[in-house]
Amino acid sequence: MFSDYPHLIDLNDHPISWWNGLLKQAEEIMKNPALYANSCKGKIMGTLFYEPSTRTQMSFQTAMLRLGGTIIGFDNPQTSSVAKGENLKDTTKIVSGYSDVLVIRHPTVGAAKAAALTADCPVINAGDGGHLHPTQTLTDLLTLKVEKKRLSDLTIGLCGDLLNGRTVHSLCKAMSCYENNHFIMISTKELKMPSYIKSTIRANGGTYEETESLEEAIPKLDMLYMTRIQRERFASQEEYLAQKDTYILTSKKMQLARPDMIVLHPLPRVDEIEVAVDDDSRALYFKQAKYGMYVRMSLILTMLQSTAKTELLAGDLHKGISCKNPKCITHQENYLPKSFLGKGSTLVCEYCDERLLLEHA
Ligand code: NCD
Repeated sequence: MFSDYPHLIDLNDHPISWWNGLLKQAEEIMKNPALYANSCKGKIMGTLFYEPSTRTQMSFQTAMLRLGGTIIGFDNPQTSSVAKGENLKDTTKIVSGYSDVLVIRHPTVGAAKAAALTADCPVINAGDGGHLHPTQTLTDLLTLKVEKKRLSDLTIGLCGDLLNGRTVHSLCKAMSCYENNHFIMISTKELKMPSYIKSTIRANGGTYEETESLEEAIPKLDMLYMTRIQRERFASQEEYLAQKDTYILTSKKMQLARPDMIVLHPLPRVDEIEVAVDDDSRALYFKQAKYGMYVRMSLILTMLQSTAKTELLAGDLHKGISCKNPKCITHQENYLPKSFLGKGSTLVCEYCDERLLLEHA
């Protein structure tokens, strides 16, 4: 598997052959983990978790330990020098100098890309705000590959917080690169999929429809991807409460689904899937979390072997212009070079994918 991009910020920075190679290697690791027990002996993985995490953090840590490597890092920035006001650039520079690979989760959109600009080792994006979550997508792809035996010709239902859910953004960007996948986006009007993700699906040749009804969509699906309403991304508690219990997957609704439909969820579950559904053989979310450990083993191995080098910012500076997305990392870390792709009146911020329309282009 070859890629000329040294980090994993967005899966789409790498060719699909690279993703497929990772999945194949993950299946080999799953079949014979003992063969890989010393593959990362002497290597160190740094984990910078600026946001809470159970599965992503611990599956990365166990993945490295099962490969024979060791780990350093923090899971609470308040116990590090971040609490003293250290910026992302300096923390990344230092910890990447101690590590062979660095995993970062951050509440701000574009933070992983910003970290990669100064890192001295490969950086893996473990979630940047409501933007992307490529290693969850690798987990989802491996689950589909093993459980459905295919990554194409699928009708995929995505339900819940499609606006703020980074897992569904990365999943749509990736799955639309495989042939003949159709997405049914199930959400309220307020939490619809961002338009840049819908444009990417169209550009990749995928198709989608949007609905507010889980009951209407469920009989058509090969896979239902449930998501949590992302409380921490709402401006107020009232806005969150207004959305909270709109979609709840119950055993009764599962009766409307095909016998071979599978249910995935990146977890944590709050109350969007009734606990009784766990006993349905089509509910695969706990199994999915375990696939995540194997795919991360495969990813760590691959990143440690990478000799790739490329310029991370391909766009232009566009003097005097800043990103219009208030959640973009460029507004928090002021030293970052602003960089935009595109020409004419539409520019796209290279950190957060926000589109800017210029009035006097
Ligand atoms: C997700 C995340 O952090 O984006 N969880 C995960 O990584 N498994 C989903 C969520 O928090 O709802």
